[in-house]
Amino acid sequence: MRVLAIGDIVGNSGRAMIKDFLGKVKKELEVDLCIANGENSAAGNGITRHIAYELFNHGVDVITMGNHVWSKKEIVRLFEENLKIIRPANYPPGTPGSGHIVVGVKNSKAAIVNISGRVYLENLDCPFRVIENELKLIKKITNIIIVDFHAEATSEKVAMGWYLDGKVSAVFGTHTHVQTADERILPKGTGYITDIGMTGPYDSILGVQKEIIINRFITHFPEKFEIADGPAQFNGIILEIDEVTGKTTSINRIVIK
Ligand code: FE2
Repeated sequence: MRVLAIGDIVGNSGRAMIKDFLGKVKKELEVDLCIANGENSAAGNGITRHIAYELFNHGVDVITMGNHVWSKKEIVRLFEENLKIIRPANYPPGTPGSGHIVVGVKNSKAAIVNISGRVYLENLDCPFRVIENELKLIKKITNIIIVDFHAEATSEKVAMGWYLDGKVSAVFGTHTHVQTADERILPKGTGYITDIGMTGPYDSILGVQKEIIINRFITHFPEKFEIADGPAQFNGIILEIDEVTGKTTSINRIVIK
């Protein structure tokens, strides 16, 4: 099974990259399942119903979220409509939405799990304990399990990768918007990368207009973040997963500028 995971789609230019490139990438790489982090797709903050449908229409199968999940209140309706959108599993019990989803892919089933780190992010439930509970449910259905760990600290992400080695097919990081070059297959067969990067404005600071962020660092004066225009990039990874064992057999980064 070939799985494409797309790094945080940011604003108009990120969505334009999806529109222009996703079809070609899926065809060229013979993608069976396409996962995309969409928590920044509405001008950097959250996702709208219109944008969710747009991403699905362009070929995204499952959308994962993160710390901006509640930025647009339409998200609650999207969860009620049972669209293939998930939010971090470690929000407290009773929160709208689900932390995982199981989808049919070819003749198999694949589970996608979204989880949030809590170093320099919201103080949610323990991601390590929560994912154990998620896995207990999911393992009854499939051993093909792909985890989007939406987290800030590299150490927390690497720790999650090692913690889940042999328990899931792959762990990829999102949220930092900078793709890391540490993709590998861990000893027990779990594909791992600290961050798959951003699909959005190339000449920017993590997607935001660079002047705003530079000024913020220099003056500490608050100014509204505006998403940058101009050239864009498409970041992600392609995983090959053995459908019988659930182990990753290859992991490669994708960078289109
Ligand atoms: Fe984030």
